[in-house]
Amino acid sequence: MRSIMTAKIMTKVINVKSVLIFDSGVGGLSVYREITKMMPEQHVIYAFDNAAFPYGELKDDLLVSRVTGMVSSICAEHDISLVVIACNTASTLVLPYLRDMLSIPVVGVVPAIKPAAVLSKTKNIGLLATPATIKRPYTFQLVNDFAPDCDVNMVGSTELVQMGESKLRGKLVNKSILKDILAPFIGQVDCIVLGCTHFPLLKEEIEEVVGKDCRVIDSGEAIASRVAELIKEEGQKAFFNKHKHRVFSSAPVKEESALNQELSLLGFSPIERAPTF
Ligand code: DGL
Repeated sequence: MRSIMTAKIMTKVINVKSVLIFDSGVGGLSVYREITKMMPEQHVIYAFDNAAFPYGELKDDLLVSRVTGMVSSICAEHDISLVVIACNTASTLVLPYLRDMLSIPVVGVVPAIKPAAVLSKTKNIGLLATPATIKRPYTFQLVNDFAPDCDVNMVGSTELVQMGESKLRGKLVNKSILKDILAPFIGQVDCIVLGCTHFPLLKEEIEEVVGKDCRVIDSGEAIASRVAELIKEEGQKAFFNKHKHRVFSSAPVKEESALNQELSLLGFSPIERAPTF
């Protein structure tokens, strides 16, 4: 009797269809928050490539092989219905490779230049992203296509990415460093695009530094709507999820217990090691 029941439970676990959310680090959790707000019953697998973090400092060919390698190995081991590349640095480069490789939908996150151009009254916009994202042809194309009448001031910062990582491990944000990073925007722009998924984790602090007259926007909610739309189109039913969300890293995690504490509040079981690729 007992073994039959165990088998039934096992089958249920295997049948869980999950959305895979991927980033270099904890930044994609800002997208996870929006997705679970919109689809509270959707099971999620969160995977991060901390072995190659930070992506904003990586060479293009290495970034392509890291993302395609890790995402495809997780898709091979788990029942994934849709992949979200919750990383602007990766999305602005790797999406065509992933879409070629996978037969499931792949949603990317790119800087919210289009809504910023609409919101801005002065037509002076700030783009805060990683050093790689502000150099990408994809980013320049976004500006040409959607903000041709705007001056877009771009700042790339890996230090801010690190600050997002630290905050998720319970560390206080250093406001004076933050002020220095944001200095090129102060009094210059009326809208700042958070073009890295780590930065919405610091939104409160950023808003405090730039003041009320400057809008701070990101792509998280738009991505969640797109994911919900695609899941519906695929005819998949969101099922009541009794299982904890799962999280995989490519390398041992710095200050793991502090991060696990935060992840547990977000509904995750402790960090597991991703399959090698
Ligand atoms: N969270 C990422 C992004 O949206 C990458 C940060 C990094 O690893 O440099 O760009």
